Amino acid sequence: MRRKVSIIGAGNVGASAAERIVLRRLADVVMVDIIEGLPQGKALDLNEAGPVDGYDARLAGSNGYEETRDSDVVVITSGLPRKPGMSRDDLLQKNFEIVKGVTEEVARRSPRAVLIVVSNPLDAMAHTALKVSGFPRERVLGMAGVLDSARMRFFIAEALGVSVENTHAFVLGGHGDTMVPLPRYSTVSGIPITELLTKETIDAIVQRTRDGGIEVVNLLKAGSAYYAPASSIVQMVEAILLDRHRILPCAVYLNGEYGYRDLFLGVPARLGARGLEKVIEIKLTVEEKSSLDRSAAAVRELVSKLQV
Ligand code: NAI
Ligand code: 2OP
Repeated sequence: MRRKVSIIGAGNVGASAAERIVLRRLADVVMVDIIEGLPQGKALDLNEAGPVDGYDARLAGSNGYEETRDSDVVVITSGLPRKPGMSRDDLLQKNFEIVKGVTEEVARRSPRAVLIVVSNPLDAMAHTALKVSGFPRERVLGMAGVLDSARMRFFIAEALGVSVENTHAFVLGGHGDTMVPLPRYSTVSGIPITELLTKETIDAIVQRTRDGGIEVVNLLKAGSAYYAPASSIVQMVEAILLDRHRILPCAVYLNGEYGYRDLFLGVPARLGARGLEKVIEIKLTVEEKSSLDRSAAAVRELVSKLQV
């Protein structure tokens, strides 16, 4: 029997993730949205691409939740995206109501699923999903670090004229302006970029990574990035469905790791069939730790504004 992934919010990110999941033959996909006809139309369109692309996975679209029953993974991409001039945090109250309602619906029907939260502001929305679902922290993850690290990897590859495949990067902290790209742990074929690039170039890459989301928003003018976010979601989905034990930067509810409690923050995490298997703690310099502290404080402030 094929596995089932439900995606709540069949907009740009959700539908792009659905397409990548079936192209990789990972699972059947159910898309849910409040807009009548939208998830059904996108599901039909993608089913009709199956004969050409050679996948038998089936997609279904719905404006209700019955079809999501017993999902293995539920991805929450419902909510408003950013427009020019808006920060991720401006979305807070609106998306809180949406994510709260969606989580109640999916948790009831798929009590054993792993939830991957994508809606912004990411860390606060993951916190919402954890508290509302009552799921253990192992089964509520936020997607941001894979995306932010992918952006940093692309910028490193461009600066050095090397394949993106040879690059590795870690971006920790909250998914916002305070995120913490870590040049010391970012490498090209195992060589730290601090030995390959000047400080000036590294500083520019770090800043462009922090501004990665808004750079796309300013170009698109309506909505935010979705291709790279969709690919990043699918990397996490694949690690879970195929029990790969991959170490990926994810927003995880911390229970004392890195000195934080009761807080979602992006950290390296090992993912497998049960969701989060282990938080990997890496040594940070005093400066890196104080950047992470600043990021943690920013996430805590947002969460404190929520009734959760
Ligand atoms: P979009 O506007 O294209 O799609 C959102 C969809 O959610 C819409 O189709 C809308 O009808 C639906 N929706 C709204 N309320 C709903 C509800 N109660 N139930 C079900 N569906 C509902 O937006 P896009 O670009 O797909 O972004 C989605 C979210 O993901 C945004 O909050 C965005 O900021 C966030 N995002 C987060 C990223 C990350 O790295 N964590 C990366 C990219 C986007
Ligand atoms: C991004 O980083 C908007 O969070 C979204 O592209």
